Amino acid sequence: MQSEMTPRTDAPLLEVRDLQTTFDLSKTQSVRAVDGVSFEVNAGETLAIVGESGSGKSVTSLSIMGLLPKDIGRITAGSIKLNGREISKLSDVQMREIRGKEIGMIFQEPMTSLNPVHTVGQQIGEMVIRHEGLSKSKARARAIEMLDLVGIPEPRRRVDNYPHEMSGGMRQRAMIAMALACEPRILIADEPTTALDVTIQAQMLELMADLQKKLGMAIVFITHDLGVVAEVADRVVVMYAAQVVETAGVVDIFRNPRMPYTAGLMNSIPRLGSSIEKQRLKAIPGTVPALTSLPSGCRFNPRCAFATDLCRSAIPPLEEAGDGHMIRCARWRELTLNEREAS
Ligand SMILES: Nc1ncnc2c1ncn2[C@@H]1O[C@H](COP(=O)(O)OP(=O)(O)O)[C@@H](O)[C@H]1O
Ligand SMILES: [Mg+2]
Repeated sequence: MQSEMTPRTDAPLLEVRDLQTTFDLSKTQSVRAVDGVSFEVNAGETLAIVGESGSGKSVTSLSIMGLLPKDIGRITAGSIKLNGREISKLSDVQMREIRGKEIGMIFQEPMTSLNPVHTVGQQIGEMVIRHEGLSKSKARARAIEMLDLVGIPEPRRRVDNYPHEMSGGMRQRAMIAMALACEPRILIADEPTTALDVTIQAQMLELMADLQKKLGMAIVFITHDLGVVAEVADRVVVMYAAQVVETAGVVDIFRNPRMPYTAGLMNSIPRLGSSIEKQRLKAIPGTVPALTSLPSGCRFNPRCAFATDLCRSAIPPLEEAGDGHMIRCARWRELTLNEREAS
């Protein structure tokens, strides 16, 4: 037991292996909202998890943080290692120690992390009192320091604000200040900029990149916005219908998407430097299947222009295509060949 608890330094910071998360929809019906998902995050890097709405991105992050809705959602297989330590089977009390201290988190809606009845200073202070045992006065000083770090003007005054006394952008910053108050090694950000207007979104991305450099933390950035991915990510994990379908470095995945779903996602964003003609955007036809009525074989096959009987017969494995590029597509080799011949 002891050896399992000892942090290892050679392991990736976060290692998710074959994770399976099940929701009970009724007494007799359950679904796998995360179905065999694997990825790792190294110290200091930014991993983006992308995919259309309903692909299992948030359930993956809630599983890592131990925040699955009680009674209906649970991890049913696989492992989650933080710094070499298995955390998927820890108790609520043990997870509370880890959240905030070792894993910071921010969400789309700041009010899910900020409590409306306490000042932001009290809430940031509470984090460092709980996790670092600071005195009240030192905690207040840290809160002011954090508000300053995230670019909130007049932090000495703002520290006594209640969340509703701040603008949306300020609240977002306050939430980041709270997430980073204990200098976690990893930050999980689930659609943190989705609700923001473009200008504030750009400011937030810049702020996070800046803080990442200063604090050296890793970031798991969950988004359905590929423009954001291009800007922030080092590596990308693409999810579809509860599974990983492609993983690669950010440059590789934008230049060379292999799985037709990823290629479809890439086609649906405007590209810098391409002609107007090429910029005609194509949405992927159809919708993400419900987990209660998944197609047989590759889960993308009903929407895929390249699907054959082979694709309908079995779920293809996630295969290594070199350079850490992983692809879940029965036809990626021939499609790659055809593409080369065509060019
Ligand atoms: N509380 C829940 N109860 C039952 N099923 C859920 C619940 N939350 C999520 N799911 C299932 O998991 C799927 C993936 O959800 P989610 O991870 O939130 O997707 P997204 O990629 O948009 O973040 C949903 O489409 C739904 O089928
Ligand atoms: Mg989500």
